[in-house]
Amino acid sequence: MEKKDIDWANIGFGYMKTDKRYVSWYRNGAWDDGELTDSAEITLNECAGVFQYAQTIFEGLKAYTAEDGRIVMFRPDLNAARMTDSAKRLEMPPFPEDRFVEAVKQVVKANEAYVPPYGSGATLYIRPYMMGTNPVIGVKPANEYMFRIFVTPVGPYFKGGAKPIVIKVSDFDRAAPHGTGNIKAGLNYAMSLHAIVTAHEEGFAENMYLDAGSRTKVEETGGANFIFITKDKTLVTPLSDSILPSITRRSICYVAEHILGMKVEHREVYLDELKDFAECGLCGTAAVISPVGKINDHGREIAFPAGMEEMGPVTKELYDTLTGIQMGRIEGPKDWVVEIA
Ligand code: PLP
Ligand code: COI
Repeated sequence: MEKKDIDWANIGFGYMKTDKRYVSWYRNGAWDDGELTDSAEITLNECAGVFQYAQTIFEGLKAYTAEDGRIVMFRPDLNAARMTDSAKRLEMPPFPEDRFVEAVKQVVKANEAYVPPYGSGATLYIRPYMMGTNPVIGVKPANEYMFRIFVTPVGPYFKGGAKPIVIKVSDFDRAAPHGTGNIKAGLNYAMSLHAIVTAHEEGFAENMYLDAGSRTKVEETGGANFIFITKDKTLVTPLSDSILPSITRRSICYVAEHILGMKVEHREVYLDELKDFAECGLCGTAAVISPVGKINDHGREIAFPAGMEEMGPVTKELYDTLTGIQMGRIEGPKDWVVEIA
């Protein structure tokens, strides 16, 4: 397979149109067979549920070339399951989970020329999504839906890759208690747009959102969960009903406990205790593990001892082990790495 002539090492996290995408329609109470299509454009009625009431959900995962040259992906069954949870919460018909994984494989294979080579630092980002397509003007769920998957080659989510970033404690909320923060709904990201533009204008790479109820506990950023390392090398991750259950975070917790023999705590994390942690990072499909060097809380700076030059030693160990498993350099749990081609 002849690869596309792309400067893999220097692409950012952006959209690049690839050759094929997958589409399946839900009509008259059933999903059709689905197919690959060439068109990247979508034409819908002006009153479609997605336009009027934001009835749309999505997922994010990656395909990449492992050390042995196979094209693989990481735990796609968990993306399929999370998309089912998201669909149910927004009153949408779940796309069958086994078909989700098969459809992802089909799209990646059809765009094999865009899968970055091993060691390039780039990956093929996969974006499954679903939307309400028929006209709805009263506030109610649509009864027709489109499920699609496109892929696009991407580089690191944060400029500078593994360099520590500086983030701020946001004055805006991303999700409400008992709201939709724990699913991957487009509306959650719309909620975060003003906050991220504001943070960028002020020179910060991301926002730390607090719990909307008490504004004392750490939630997550706009696109990643937090990991913290204590001075005695315990991994701490925030527990909350209003954050997205990150597949990367769940995998890191497993790696820390079962492979690196670390203590792991999944519990409420208070803003007041951040100063006591030794390391901080963001984790997610796009973020992988991105170190946080400093957190600015309304002018009060929390600087982690690992500094601004490189990721802290424990974060690095977690990063090396997780990416080692993903790339097939380290043996991980069976079924985590799924072959596509
Ligand atoms: N939190 C938010 C808000 C996200 O958008 C993402 C990205 O998917 C994550 C966390 C990380 O989740 P995952 O590791 O499953 O990609
Ligand atoms: C992902 O990591 O897949 C996401 O969806 C996060 C988004 C901010 C790109």
